[in-house]
Formats: sequence, C-alpha cells, structure tokens
Amino acid sequence: MTLKKSITIAIDGPAGSGKSTIAKILANKYKMTYLDTGAMYRMVTYYFLENQINLKEKINILEILKNIHVDIVGDKFYINGKDVSEEIRTPKVTGLVSEVAAIKEVREKLVELQREISKGKKTILDGRDIGTVVFPKADLKIYLIASPEERARRRVEDYKNKGIENENFQDVLDAIIKRDFLDSTREESPLKKANDAIEIDSSKMNAQEVCDIISKYIDEIEV
Ligand code: CDP
Repeated sequence: MTLKKSITIAIDGPAGSGKSTIAKILANKYKMTYLDTGAMYRMVTYYFLENQINLKEKINILEILKNIHVDIVGDKFYINGKDVSEEIRTPKVTGLVSEVAAIKEVREKLVELQREISKGKKTILDGRDIGTVVFPKADLKIYLIASPEERARRRVEDYKNKGIENENFQDVLDAIIKRDFLDSTREESPLKKANDAIEIDSSKMNAQEVCDIISKYIDEIEV
C-alpha cells in the first residue's frame, strides 16, 4: 500500500484508550513516523519535578522553557541530552502532567515542535488536540474512547509490565477520572472530538480489531 508522500493521521482520546498501542502498530504497518505527543508533555512535567518548579508560585514560564531542549530518537525521549524514556511514565509524572499541559506557553512550544517534526512526512500522532488544534486538516482523524474502568484496567496492567506494582485499580481509576476532567475542561486546547473525527469505542475490542477498522479508513486515503 503506497500512501501520499506527506500524510497526517490524528488519534485523539482520553488516557488509556489505547492510542499509543494502536498508533505504533499502524506506524509500523504503513511505514509512518509515530509521534507520541503525550510523551512531550510528560518530558516538560519531568523537568518541572526535577527542578522543583512549583506551579503555584509566580514563575516565568518562557524563561524556564528556554532551558528545556527536547529530542526524540526512535522511541527514546531526551531532555537536555538525558534519556528520560522510563522516568516520564511514572505515576508521579502522570499525576502532574495535566496541570503542566494546561499552560498556554507550554502548549505553544510543543505544538510548534510537533508541526516541525511532522513536516513533509507521513506521520501518525496521538494526543488530545491533534485533530482539533495541531492538525485541523489531518487526512484522517480518529477519536478513540473506552470506559474509564477498562482504561484503568489497562493502565494497571501496563504498570505491572513495567515493574510498578503498588498501583491499585481504584487509585488508577481515580487518577484517570481526574485527568479526563482536567484535560477536557481546560481553557487551552481541551480534549474533545473534532467534528470530522471518527469515534471508535475500544472497550470491547483488542488492539488488532481497532487497527483493522482504522486500516480500512487509511486504505481509502487517496494515493
Ligand atoms: O498515555 P496516556 O493516555 O496516559 O497520556 P499521554 O498521552 O501520555 O498524555 C499525558 C497528558 O499530556 C494528558 O493527560 C494531557 O494532559 C497531556 N496531553 C495534552 O494535553 N495534549 C496532547 N496532545 C497530548 C497529551
């Protein structure tokens, strides 16, 4: 299957809906670049935590952002040359990321970077605002959802696979519900379905079934 030289596929949806799993499989199948935009917000959050930057204090965000250099090489994420690929997935970062992602200046910097990385390429991006703000003219927009309970179950499973054992289902579910609320009610680029996005509920589907549905739409994109 040959796709257009430059193509953009947006996958948005709440935490744990399966976006990254699906995006990785599709990127591999269609030889596209995969960009995990959530990881970028996680990187900035990690930097804030590491440097004990308190969001409640008056801070000069633009000055702080100038000191953050983000690099993405394959599936590795670097801040100022340091590989933070594992650190950005911890519950501590997860607990603060929605607050950092609500900051206008942070979003402006990362959205610019996302557009730059995707320029002239075949790219599949996952996040919260890809189809609404980052690429409102994306070739295909998917809005992936699942019930909060199923999303929490998946997240606990993920944590277990990463050796993070002390996260119980109820805590993870509460954290997901809180993040959904923050992400969808914030002023800047809230999580919402773009009017022209295709909604898929993955609650009762495995990754392959979701990919099969999306592949049908990708195959329809003009070559
Ligand atoms: O993987 P998970 O669904 O837990 O979240 P993520 O994709 O890693 O994103 C982490 C957080 O970053 C989200 O809860 C949002 O607050 C923020 N985010 C965002 O605001 N915009 C994006 N395009 C991607 C993520």
